[in-house]
Amino acid sequence: MQHLDNDVRELTAVERQQIEDEHARLDQFLRELCETCCEFDSLKGCLGCGREKIASCQGRLISFEYVFIDLVIEHFKNEEKIMSKIFSNQDTNECFRFHQQEHDKLLREMQGLMHKLSTESDRGHTAVAIREFHYRVMELFGKHARMFDDPFMRQPKGGKK
Ligand SMILES: [Fe+2]
Ligand SMILES: [Fe+2]
Repeated sequence: MQHLDNDVRELTAVERQQIEDEHARLDQFLRELCETCCEFDSLKGCLGCGREKIASCQGRLISFEYVFIDLVIEHFKNEEKIMSKIFSNQDTNECFRFHQQEHDKLLREMQGLMHKLSTESDRGHTAVAIREFHYRVMELFGKHARMFDDPFMRQPKGGKK
């Protein structure tokens, strides 16, 4: 998809900063989730942890899910609002629609992953559930960033390269 310079205006410093801050916030939340589990890097399960720690991890997961999904929804909404301001013609609006459709798809996938996260944690496999969730979300977000957010953030400066 190519854009012409007069179809797209550059992101303002404030808009760029807002998107970058929100991406950083989402990353931070995911990092904090991993830090909840003391076996995150060891690839072990929850067997080595006591009842209290297991219960606190499960509680932490529930609050994480509420906050994280809200942050994702809010971020998509803000990104789309900024996008709708910088793209002006039909072609570029198509880019906007593709990006928006990807957000909707990503949100549905996230909800599925969250459901799996809760179910696995309820079964006592919290450590495995956190690792799998983290891996899948990083993969999905990474792909989305490469295909949609990065090109959009580069417009129109890098659009001709
Ligand atoms: Fe996006
Ligand atoms: Fe984004």
